[in-house]
Amino acid sequence: MSTHTLTIALGERSYPICIGSGLLDQLTQLAPLPKASAALIVTNTTVQPLYAARLQAALQGQYAQVQLVVLPDGEEHKNWQTLQSIFDTLLKHGADRKTVLFALGGGVVGDMTGFAAACYMRGVPFVQVPTTLLSQVDSSVGGKTGINHPLGKNMIGAFYQPRLVACDLDTLDTLPARELSAGLAEVIKYGPIADMALFDWLEQNIDALVARDKTALAHAVRRSCEIKADVVAKDERESDLRAILNFGHTFGHAIEAGMGYGVWLHGEGVAAGMVMAAELSQRLGLVDAAFALRLRSLVQRAGLPVKGALLDAQDNAGRYLELMQLDKKSQAGSIRFVLIDGPGKAVVREAPEALVREVIDLCCA
Ligand code: NAD
Ligand code: GLY
Repeated sequence: MSTHTLTIALGERSYPICIGSGLLDQLTQLAPLPKASAALIVTNTTVQPLYAARLQAALQGQYAQVQLVVLPDGEEHKNWQTLQSIFDTLLKHGADRKTVLFALGGGVVGDMTGFAAACYMRGVPFVQVPTTLLSQVDSSVGGKTGINHPLGKNMIGAFYQPRLVACDLDTLDTLPARELSAGLAEVIKYGPIADMALFDWLEQNIDALVARDKTALAHAVRRSCEIKADVVAKDERESDLRAILNFGHTFGHAIEAGMGYGVWLHGEGVAAGMVMAAELSQRLGLVDAAFALRLRSLVQRAGLPVKGALLDAQDNAGRYLELMQLDKKSQAGSIRFVLIDGPGKAVVREAPEALVREVIDLCCA
């Protein structure tokens, strides 16, 4: 399979996104890497035994020193303490302000490495080497970095762009099926908000994607990165347009926080959240019932949840509303949702509480 390269256009901060097979071993040949004497690979306990030695070997040709820091695995470790361990390693090795960080892992490792790179000595370069489907189609692209706070997800962070994103599709061979499905949620997301041709293609190819067909995965990763790169190039810091990439996330983040981080995967929360957002769009007269049904069916075929009760008790809606107040799109306490304004187009707006409650009750029954 040949390597496909696209560029995210951000002026002097533009960078290539490379998608292909065997990229881990060829990283230094994909694009000019930042010049430095030292590199630090940041990975976790699951990914390290699978892929770290190969990346380390590839980088040794370019950097005199290639160090490794291995983080604990899991969303529950996306916090200050783990971030501090990256700084500890950098300082212990006397890393200077040219040291290059390589994020080898999924979105958790990528978000934390990016944030560490943004902060260490007020900014050192970093490269994303995403190894989950979710991180290849979404989190490694666009420069959102950060950690969770006990009171809210991704609440502490920075916009900080990587120098290169290298998506090695072969790493998806070892991904657990549940994680692959979670990544498919973020692929599905791009259809309703931006590209119904992708949505149609997904309906035709969802079984091939679940079966890890490489050609299908390559298309899904490439098209997702193209759409995300286009949106981010137009609105890097989410003053307006970029918020559409949060389709399903307002409900989804509430599910993740309400269940306790790490209980539901991020992509699972997004999946149920998209179904809820589509139901809300329908109740507001923006899409018809057939569209909401199509989305629900695709989500289900991808092996993802379409319901998200937080509580056994009655007031799921109350708990959701409480958690959704913390959403970063909220303004003056009003919750704003990414809704589908006709298939292929998104809009960000408020919705009457009674309708939101109705949708939550429907999707928690
Ligand atoms: P993750 O990083 O937790 O990875 C999922 C699991 O797969 C982990 O156990 C990981 O160790 C394991 N893993 C990674 N690569 C593997 C491989 N090749 N083979 C086997 N196991 C592998 O989760 P994720 O879904 O990749 O990312 C979710 C995170 O990304 C969340 O914290 C979310 O907030 C964040 N996110 C960020 C953005 C952004 O724009 N920055 C966008 C979407 C999501
Ligand atoms: N995942 C949403 C964004 O990058 O804006």
